[in-house]
Amino acid sequence: MKTLKVLLIGAHGRTGGLVARRLHDAAIPFRAMLRKSVHRSEFAAIGAEIVLGDLINDFSHAFDDITHVIYAAGSAETEGMHEERAIDRDTVMRTADYAKRRRVQQLVVVSALSAFHSERSTLALRHYSRMKRQADEYVAQRGVPYAILRPGPLSDEPARGAIGLASERTEHMPAVSRADVAHIAVRCVTLGISDQMIAFVGGDEPIDAMLDALALEQTHACHHAAPTSR
Ligand SMILES: NC(=O)c1ccc[n+]([C@@H]2O[C@H](COP(=O)([O-])OP(=O)(O)OC[C@H]3O[C@@H](n4cnc5c(N)ncnc54)[C@H](OP(=O)(O)O)[C@@H]3O)[C@@H](O)[C@H]2O)c1
Repeated sequence: MKTLKVLLIGAHGRTGGLVARRLHDAAIPFRAMLRKSVHRSEFAAIGAEIVLGDLINDFSHAFDDITHVIYAAGSAETEGMHEERAIDRDTVMRTADYAKRRRVQQLVVVSALSAFHSERSTLALRHYSRMKRQADEYVAQRGVPYAILRPGPLSDEPARGAIGLASERTEHMPAVSRADVAHIAVRCVTLGISDQMIAFVGGDEPIDAMLDALALEQTHACHHAAPTSR
């Protein structure tokens, strides 16, 4: 069994940076994937390995010795459909392909709540939401254990350690902090949450209790599925 090592894609993003900090605080070894070498020292200072790469190119080299992947990259709001197709869909799909090929144990993807209903999104978000949805569908059937996170609108508020679980029927969408998204992403790794989609907005449900319950359910489901000896 390989020792745990996380590849963090989009490490320099707002959520990615908070994930990096949490991985560091939890003493989880990780490799930060960065587009620009100018950001190297920031991540080296917290003990991260660095791999440079632009997601639009082949980045399979980033997966050497990796056991878990967190995808926290995303297109910038101003970049338009081409970038959305590339970064919110195609590179997520390629991440799942590389992960499958390297037998990665878990892939955590930061998607978006609006992926449930791209047709109900505002015009500005419609294409982005469709790309997120197609990426999620691909990840879910690719054969790599996955946790797909679908947060509602993000904020830069401090972590609350709490969220509100959501679903495709959720209409009230208080913002959830990127710090809480980072918390969930890293706990999914430590708990080995697999084949789950977790949709959430801002709220009062403690994250740790919610994820512990999910992990317990998963363990029970595994035991029930195990073949009994005769
Ligand atoms: N904004 C919201 O309200 C909202 C709501 C729900 C979900 N989300 C999703 O949550 C995730 C995190 O969002 P965020 O706002 O924290 O992200 P962010 O700050 O915009 O960071 C995005 C990261 O993606 C990286 N990236 C983009 N294109 C790349 C490329 N071609 N090659 C390498 N890296 C690339 C950027 O690299 P550089 O640092 O080099 O630019 C950046 O580090 C995204 O998937 C987003 O779609 C956002």
